[in-house]
Amino acid sequence: MIKKCLFPAAGYGTRFLPATKATPKEMLPILTKPLIQYGVEEALSANIHTMAIVSGRGKRALEDHFDISYELEHQIKGGSKESLLNEIRTLITQCTFSYTRQVEMKGLGHAILTGETLIGNEPFAVVLADDLCYCEDQGVLEQMTKVYEKYQCSVVAIEEVPVDEMYKYGVIAGKLVDGSDDIYRVSDMVEKPDPKDAPSNLAIIGRYILTPDIFDILRATPPGKGGEIQITDALLEQAKKGKVIGYKFKGQRFDCGSVDGFVEATNWFYDKM
Ligand code: UTP
Repeated sequence: MIKKCLFPAAGYGTRFLPATKATPKEMLPILTKPLIQYGVEEALSANIHTMAIVSGRGKRALEDHFDISYELEHQIKGGSKESLLNEIRTLITQCTFSYTRQVEMKGLGHAILTGETLIGNEPFAVVLADDLCYCEDQGVLEQMTKVYEKYQCSVVAIEEVPVDEMYKYGVIAGKLVDGSDDIYRVSDMVEKPDPKDAPSNLAIIGRYILTPDIFDILRATPPGKGGEIQITDALLEQAKKGKVIGYKFKGQRFDCGSVDGFVEATNWFYDKM
């Protein structure tokens, strides 16, 4: 069973400057709800109650968001706006939140390794809150925990992407297993490939379930593409042993780390209201 979810949220979010100069990217709202809250709700709907957040300098708003604001509660008590806090109140009562700081931004792999102190020696989920996922029937993380229960190894969420966008992602090679049309045994993966080197059009998006041996692998992983410690490089070590599943999830994914994706998500959620 997966009990903890790690949220690497220490990145600078430079694509959203100047908005992210003093505000964490994860606090940018799609309509009225910040990105990180969508991610926490997705984890909770997968029956995960322990949230572990890797934050960094200038990110204290994340901690304040998942806490009670007594002044605000007092101000709106009994009024028409009180119900606007219902969802976040539910999260605060049903989840625990713990935090650690990534002191130097050395990449996603390094951020995940920084989270080891909050996770310990057990399998865990990872949500990149700037990838906003939506599925009416079953959240993407819940779908993935079911895949983990069957295969008992790391699981990465994958999606088909156009050739000209592959340079943004880790791309996998793999074979469909057990007669399914959405579950791949991963044999290779390349971080941000040139289209000519891409092993497929299946890209890893910001949802993972990782087994805890990933921490030792990350400790031994040298900086890769962009001088950063890449989770893709560490996952490749597991994949070589047949220990990574790629799962083509059901639902929508919006790349809210880019302005285009953020606007698309905003319009989509607004239309759905
Ligand atoms: P991104 O590649 O989107 O980087 O990180 P970024 O810094 O957030 O944004 P840009 O590219 O400058 O606009 C993917 C995820 O990994 C986390 C980010 O917070 C984001 O959730 N991350 C990245 C870290 O936590 N630490 C890092 O050192 C790098």
